[in-house]
Amino acid sequence: MARITYIEFSGVAHVVDVAAGLSVMEGAVKNNVPGIDAECGGAMACGTCHVYVDREWLEKTGPKSADEDQMIGFAVNIEDNSRLACQIKVTDALDGLVVRTPERQHD
Ligand code: FES
Repeated sequence: MARITYIEFSGVAHVVDVAAGLSVMEGAVKNNVPGIDAECGGAMACGTCHVYVDREWLEKTGPKSADEDQMIGFAVNIEDNSRLACQIKVTDALDGLVVRTPERQHD
């Protein structure tokens, strides 16, 4: 279990407990956290689960795979701390994780 804080672009924060084994995207969707569309359901085929990982957590969330790196190019307004939330697996080590959702998931 990890407590994850999702911060909307507007600044509204949602703090939810997410079971280990789920993805950061699934944690948002199951808890009705807005700002993550996740249109492909986690198949890494849409780029609409884009989040910005708080810089303090980049090491613990780990690097993107080559496939994620390619797919994230379809997301809007990517930054160096951008990730696809469906590709971040929740573990107990991510307890306290902070991610921010972008202004929008589509152009
Ligand atoms: S949910 Fe589609 S790429 Fe993550």
